[in-house]
Amino acid sequence: MNNLNNYSANPNDFARKLFSGLPQRYDLLAQLLSFGQDYRWREEMVSHLAPHQPNHVLDVATGPGGVARMLIKKGVRKVTGVDLSQDMLYQAKANITRLNLENKINLVLSKGEELPFSNKTFDGLSFTYLLRYVVDPSKTIKELSRVLKYGAPMVNLEFYIPQNYFWKFLWSYYTKYLLPALGKQLGGQAWEEVGRFLGPNIENYYNNFNLEQHLQAWKEAGFENVAYKTMSVGGGIIFWGTKTNG
Ligand SMILES: C[S@@+](CC[C@H](N)C(=O)[O-])C[C@H]1O[C@@H](n2cnc3c(N)ncnc32)[C@H](O)[C@@H]1O
Repeated sequence: MNNLNNYSANPNDFARKLFSGLPQRYDLLAQLLSFGQDYRWREEMVSHLAPHQPNHVLDVATGPGGVARMLIKKGVRKVTGVDLSQDMLYQAKANITRLNLENKINLVLSKGEELPFSNKTFDGLSFTYLLRYVVDPSKTIKELSRVLKYGAPMVNLEFYIPQNYFWKFLWSYYTKYLLPALGKQLGGQAWEEVGRFLGPNIENYYNNFNLEQHLQAWKEAGFENVAYKTMSVGGGIIFWGTKTNG
């Protein structure tokens, strides 16, 4: 079983282990455990990318490829999905094959912190639930920026914490008690483990890298028109911005 100590020692190994038992039912359980909000959040995130009509989008931390598939559905011509978990990519491959999307989505095993692509390769970039698993979020945002063409949009979906006292109380109760229990009931030990990990991990992440620091990191990585929107009483957050040529 993973424990939280392994997390800071080597986040990449930790993430590989944490996600190794999840791919098969990831899409279903992600929706069930978020009461369908995750799907709404993805739609909102993609809505800030698709109107730019990017030809080739990089989806980082693609997991089983849910965002990659949504991008194609919304009219993006080609998506490259990147993830450090081979197990997740096997599931992404199965999903893509089932939907006959092999010629539209290709998959690459890589971590988001060191992308195996040349500068200014992509017309758009999405990343979902990535930065809580990297040592240096600001440096990772710079690496994502590196592979984007000038004028290209970048979008990000992440969990957030309700700021209203009442909703924060409910969020804390849900993440502390219900999420691990529901995870175990619906998905077994691997999901119980993620359920236990998520609440403290999200709080710790924003204690070390707050909203202002996020916006600053995007600007320092060369993005303009950087904005964000919280959703579902603050349980989710979407960031977006456009890469400048400065
Ligand atoms: C919560 S899952 C989300 C998957 C997908 N984005 C979605 O929303 O369906 C997070 C994913 O991030 C991947 N991941 C974690 N750390 C990563 C890193 N440093 N580089 C690339 N992928 C990473 C995990 O393997 C996992 O597939």
